[in-house]
Amino acid sequence: MSHTELHRSDAAAALLDARRRSERLEASISRDPAAHRILTGDRPTGPLHLGHYFGTLLSRVRLQNLGVELVVLVADYQTITDRDSPASLPRDVEELLADYLAVGIDPDRSVVFAHSQVAAVNQLMLPFLSLVSVPELARNPTVKEERAASGLPSASALMFTYPVHQAADILFCKANVVPVGKDQLPHVELTRVIARRFNQRYSPGEPFFPEPDALLSDAPVILGTDGQKMSKSRRNAIPLAATENETARLIRGAKTDADRHIAYDPIRRPEVSNLLLLTGLCENSSPEQVAEEIGDTGAAALKLRATEAINDRLRPVRTLRAEVIKDRAYLRELLQEGNDKTNAVANDTLDAVRQLMHTAYA
Ligand code: TRP
Repeated sequence: MSHTELHRSDAAAALLDARRRSERLEASISRDPAAHRILTGDRPTGPLHLGHYFGTLLSRVRLQNLGVELVVLVADYQTITDRDSPASLPRDVEELLADYLAVGIDPDRSVVFAHSQVAAVNQLMLPFLSLVSVPELARNPTVKEERAASGLPSASALMFTYPVHQAADILFCKANVVPVGKDQLPHVELTRVIARRFNQRYSPGEPFFPEPDALLSDAPVILGTDGQKMSKSRRNAIPLAATENETARLIRGAKTDADRHIAYDPIRRPEVSNLLLLTGLCENSSPEQVAEEIGDTGAAALKLRATEAINDRLRPVRTLRAEVIKDRAYLRELLQEGNDKTNAVANDTLDAVRQLMHTAYA
């Protein structure tokens, strides 16, 4: 086997292993939801969209409602990995909070916080950095891709080390469940390595940090209007907050193909299949069923159906969102409450870490 083949089969084995662990985790959550704590989050870089909705938001809310403890991170410090902190950040954070509330994240049951506001989380990054090597960080495939995508001639040191920061996000509250897509798996793996090494070095008798597991989403990848993965930065997204007319316009402009017969064939007809999938998800039916109903009436009919399905599905979300975004003071208050609660937890963890590291002098 060649060197690259070896790497590829390693990655495949790791994915298989992560899938197996994820299935076991799902079963364990159903048995005892309250024994699980989820840490998850988003970069506040723009409005959340349908990809987030079907990819992670619905599952977060489902788990919250099952009784799992949900901690949601507004990853504002991650937005500076490849650029300056934009002046729009306060507004972007408010919009993100409005999206969370609108989809059903419940501030009475779950905590939302911003990691720039919780000093102790960030301080954990320093000992964690001492537990990983530079080559380990340089190998991270997701960071490699992001560096290439940033188009910048040289990456910032934060770009290299943000997965270590992410380990601090996860470990400060001893979360044991991290819902992720495949791209975030290397970061969860690194978090496990950091937890293990910290425990070995500073707490060999009794592990201090749990090794968190990734909860791999089985949600399908949603494509944007250009046929690429739906993403804020690709400008191909349908935001949750879009109006019904904006949604109609975005779907009208979506790429399709010339075959009038509509069929679900994700490999050969990804764009048409994506519209079928979205329609099916919104209508709680299957893409095949939708395809059958549309038959030979072509892409225009499919687009009308998709628009209606998305608008119907999102109407209650949008109504609630319009309501909460009116009261920005309330949104900021909610975040402040989340930051306060999180500071208490993170300070306790940091105190214990200082004890274990022999840096508590009081
Ligand atoms: N990297 C994640 C993203 O880009 C956001 C994030 C930051 C995160 N810290 C995290 C996700 C910890 C899960 C756990 O969306």
